Amino acid sequence: MSEFQPKIVAFVCNWCTYAGADLTGTSRIKYSPNVRIVRFPCTGRIDYMLLTKAFASGADGIIVSGCHPNDCHYTSGNFYARRRWIVFKKLCDFMGIDTRRIVFSWVSAAEGSKWADIVNTTNEEIIKLGPYDSYHKLSTQDILE
Ligand code: FES
Repeated sequence: MSEFQPKIVAFVCNWCTYAGADLTGTSRIKYSPNVRIVRFPCTGRIDYMLLTKAFASGADGIIVSGCHPNDCHYTSGNFYARRRWIVFKKLCDFMGIDTRRIVFSWVSAAEGSKWADIVNTTNEEIIKLGPYDSYHKLSTQDILE
């Protein structure tokens, strides 16, 4: 039997975390290869419904990461993202999505090793939780009832 390799989707901002992930690569720091990065101009532009879409499309875990507080390239986008995350967590509880599968973090362009740590830790956590299939079990009828 082959070992479970989770599919992790990372929604990151262009200016800090994406550059940090790039630094991870140029520094040749090894990290789990099963993360797919989706780049946004800013975490403030991330529509959290994309996270549910990622789960519905087969993701087992999600990382949302951007600039540290007060470092956002657009001044306050990351504060909007953090507020939306607080509300989205409650929505996840309501929909039955285990929020341990979603990691929210700040990674700057100079924190390549931190990015590697976050990906590796998330990967280990998702392996412990197992594949995420409960979203698929919900039909539209289940949600409406
Ligand atoms: Fe990075 Fe806004 S530009 S969080």
